[in-house]
Parts: sequence; C-alpha cells; structure tokens
Amino acid sequence: MIQVNENYSKLKASYLFADIAKRIKVFQTTYPHKPIIRLGIGDVTEPLPPVCIQALHEAVDEMASRETFRGYGPEQGYDFLREAIAKHDFQARGADISADEIFVSDGAKCDTGNIQELFGAKVKIAVPDPVYPVYVDTNVMAGRTGKNTNGRYAGLVYLDGTVENGFVPAPPKEPVDLIYLCFPNNPTGAVATKEQLTAWVAYARKNKALILFDAAYEAFIRTPGIPHSIFEIEGARECAIEFRSFSKTAGFTGTRCAFTVIPKDLVAYTKKGEKVPLHPMWTRRHTTKFNGVSYIVQRAAAAIYTKEGKRQVKKIIDFYLGNGKIIRKAFAKAGYDCIGGDNSPYVWVNVNGKKSWDFFDKLLHDAQVVITPGAGFGKDGEGFIRVSSFNSRENVEEAVKRIVKAL
Ligand code: MLT
Repeated sequence: MIQVNENYSKLKASYLFADIAKRIKVFQTTYPHKPIIRLGIGDVTEPLPPVCIQALHEAVDEMASRETFRGYGPEQGYDFLREAIAKHDFQARGADISADEIFVSDGAKCDTGNIQELFGAKVKIAVPDPVYPVYVDTNVMAGRTGKNTNGRYAGLVYLDGTVENGFVPAPPKEPVDLIYLCFPNNPTGAVATKEQLTAWVAYARKNKALILFDAAYEAFIRTPGIPHSIFEIEGARECAIEFRSFSKTAGFTGTRCAFTVIPKDLVAYTKKGEKVPLHPMWTRRHTTKFNGVSYIVQRAAAAIYTKEGKRQVKKIIDFYLGNGKIIRKAFAKAGYDCIGGDNSPYVWVNVNGKKSWDFFDKLLHDAQVVITPGAGFGKDGEGFIRVSSFNSRENVEEAVKRIVKAL
C-alpha cells in the first residue's frame, strides 16, 4: 500500500500566493469589467536589461552551430558566471568567496527549499515571524515540525518581528541549530545593520549553528554601510550559507537564474559530533538532482556584471524604488505607518488594528488593487499588509489614487 507523506496534512491547503490567485480569479469572474492592478506577489514587470537581451541573442546563435553548440553544462554553473559572481558580488565588497563556492541554480525559492535536506530530521529551527513562507512550509513537509496551532507550528522557535525591534529580531536566548534570515527582508522590507548581523554570526558560531541567509533583494540596498552579504561579516564563512537570485535584481522571474554560496569551511556535525563539510554534500546533491541552468540564460545573467550591465540594472532598481517612494507617501498621507520600500521593493504597512485579510478584501473590492496580507507571512504579520513596488509607474500612480480614495 502506497503511503503518503502525512506531514503535508499539517500545511495550510495552498501556498500563500496560490491562495491569493484564487481570490483574484473569483473577483475577476464576478466583476470582469473591473481592471485589477497587482501589487501583490513580487513579480517584476520591466523588461530584461538590454545587455541581457543581447547576450541571449548571441548565445542562441551559438546554439545554432555545431562548433559552438552546448549540451549539458557543469551542474554548478559555467565558470564564466561563477567567476563574475565571485568577483563582483563578493570580492568587490571584501567578502572572501571564490568561484568554486558558488552553485548556480534556477531559483532561490528552490534552493532555500531544497537545502534543508542536508540537515538532520531533528534539528532545532529558528524562523522570524513574519517570514517568507517557503522556509517554514518546506520544513513542515520534511517532518521537522508538529501541528499548526493558532498560526504556529509546534517545534519551531519563532523570532518575533515587531515595530519595537524594527522587524529585525535579535538571536534567541536558547540554542538552536538552523536559523533563517532574510535581508532586505521579505515581507517587511527591513534591513539589518553590520552590528545586528555580527551578533547573529557570533550566536551561530557559539552554538555551532548554521545561518541560511536569503539575500535575494540585496540589489535594492541604497543606505551606505548596510551589508549586502552575510560574508561581509567576519566569521560568517564558518556558519552561513547565502542565497541570491537574478529574479529581482535583473528581472529574471520568468527567465530563471539564481545561486547559492556554500563556503568550503562550513561544517555540520554527525550525531557523534564529527565534522562533515557541507560543500561536498551540496555538490553531491546538486550533481545528482540538477542538470544546470541553460547556457543561454547563464550568458544573460553574466551580462549584468559588465559596466553597462551594472548601469542598466541600477536604473531598473532605481525605478522600482521610485515606485516604493510613491506607495509609502500615499499610505503615510492616508494615516498609515509604513517601513520598507527604500532598501527593498516591499512596503510594509500597519493597517491600524484591522485584520490583514479584511484589508486585502477591501482593497480588492473598493480599489481593485491586489496587495499581500501580512497574516500570510505568519502570526506577527496580522495587522499589516505588504505592498509590492513591482509595476509600471502608470499602474502604481493609478493604484495609490484608488487606494487613497478607498481609504
Ligand atoms: C514574493 O512575492 O514574496 C516573491 O515573489 C515570492 C518569490 O520570490 O518566490
């Protein structure tokens, strides 16, 4: 008799963004003539930077000739991309990361979800609340939690993100083994200072714990002095893995390319306390389960590291940050406190004591604007909404006009 993985029954019926998509569909079926503006899921709207388009065309042409055609590539990524990443994203910021510590993949969502298979079934996990749901749901699927009661899974250590701590929780008092951190944060848009990350690295080293650091939104950081990588912090090579993505940096949500950094110094432990390096384990996993990102897409990704590529990427991100400013201003004017939107594409709005799903429904029905209810990111997200800056200027201006009117 084939048995199911019963851990799935502990999950909410559908993934947050699938849930939202269903509600939108119902609304659209009922009111087909009311045009909706989407500031919900963080999906980019601007076209790929021209340097990427040019690199894609050239790579496609290479595939048309026997001499330059490529079949399977290295699972971890082509050297030209890994070297560009190591040099421009890390070494240029004083972070000691080499090309062979970078694993190119098709998405940070997949990598943050897959990485947990390297760890024991009983590791103690700390997650911030609110949090990107993938970190929690994938551990639920793997059986590392108990049931969900009142919005929280038994067995997890939740780190409360609050207005008081600026949505940057401090390390817990108790020891944990695995810690998920995301900065700039999804959903709150908060960023962590060097001092705050230094405290996390010190905690992880003291407790022989591992930090899974999601830096998918680092390209939005504009405040000087805010670290773009956990590896800018001394000692992080011994206690952290970092996830990055071209999705939000260069508009690759549909094109798919990302990478994970696993330093060679990094170890986890057997039950007996023997050290096991994680780099060879992830190499084994990646080469067994993944056949690499396509050559043409890796060429497109590498193009953003040229001088012109960097200029074009900055221009697009500045554009989204401009949208963020408009959204923040509109909510502030309407009497709602917000954070984020300045070093991140997300604005996190306090909805003044209202329930976040009620606010979602109100904006959908009264303004035909889709946002993401904070409660979808955890218990502490109740009373907040997340508004995404990813859209055209015209749509953002129209959306805030409608929102202000509806409020
Ligand atoms: C989000 O809206 O939180 C993101 O688009 C989800 C993702 O990157 O997977």
